[in-house]
Amino acid sequence: MLDTEKFIEEKVEWLRNKIGGEKAVAAVSGGVDSMTTAVLGHRAIGDRQIAVFLDDGLMREGEPAKVLKILKKIGVNAKIYEVSDNFFKALKGIPDPEEKRKAFRETFYRTLADVAGELRARFLLQGTIAADIVETAGGVKTQHNVLEQIGIRTLEKYGFEVLEPIKDLYKPQVRQVARALGLPKEVFERRPFPGPGLSVRIIGEVTPERVEIVRKATEIVEEETKDIACFQAFAVLMNDRGTGITPDRKRKYGDIVVIRVVESEDAMKAKAAELPWEKLNKIKKRIIEDLPSVTHVLYDLTDKPPATIEFE
Ligand code: XMP
Repeated sequence: MLDTEKFIEEKVEWLRNKIGGEKAVAAVSGGVDSMTTAVLGHRAIGDRQIAVFLDDGLMREGEPAKVLKILKKIGVNAKIYEVSDNFFKALKGIPDPEEKRKAFRETFYRTLADVAGELRARFLLQGTIAADIVETAGGVKTQHNVLEQIGIRTLEKYGFEVLEPIKDLYKPQVRQVARALGLPKEVFERRPFPGPGLSVRIIGEVTPERVEIVRKATEIVEEETKDIACFQAFAVLMNDRGTGITPDRKRKYGDIVVIRVVESEDAMKAKAAELPWEKLNKIKKRIIEDLPSVTHVLYDLTDKPPATIEFE
């Protein structure tokens, strides 16, 4: 059992000692890990920390504004940077999952390096958790935020030192700490979202048009499952296409969207949720109605293992 109060006290102290009189940037995505980290940083050095949200164009609908509002409400100094062009340029023409993750990571940290330089911050606080490190070390997939553990020297490469105050915690413990820090329920109960965002939910090349499809489908899946107890619920856009038929009986070659809903404790293992048929049908109906390019909607029945939660 984690002694939450003691953990918070120790980490705040640790951050204060590490950062000294310098400034820091906390990379936030709106997820519970990064928000918890940003609040710890704020407790340690107050407004000498700026929480930075990189709007990479790969986020869920309405996300940047929502995150900024939450941070402002709890008094954390925060700023949004609209940098989607950087990311679309970097991801152009890359279909391979690990290559995509590498391109995302490089763009993410280069952009943060620019921001940190502009804000004269020497430290970067980020919400890496134990599962990110374990899965990267095990060669399952390179989580976007795992750097020093795979031999990247951030001070030399990007000009900032990385601090990871919650790297020994798993998701349930992070939620516990987030709650104790006074973060709102919508944050500490939030379903995880991958750092590279919707880019890893698009099989094949990432383009603004394809992101738009998966973003809309994701919104539908999230809305329709908001009262269902699950770890994650989202949509994935396949690279293959399927033949469909229009109401006036014309052939249509369209997109294939997969719905994925999983139950899990800490993301290390997961079980495909047994959604009622009615619910699945409703999601399918809304996706087909709202997204004219889609001809097929599938449900993923696979647990982790053998699959991972995300498709890439
Ligand atoms: P997988 O797909 O490996 O995902 O079963 C385990 C958990 O991690 C999330 N995920 C990521 N989170 N950076 C993150 O911060 C990443 O690169 C990344 N990749 C996957 C995923 O959503 C799930 O909760």
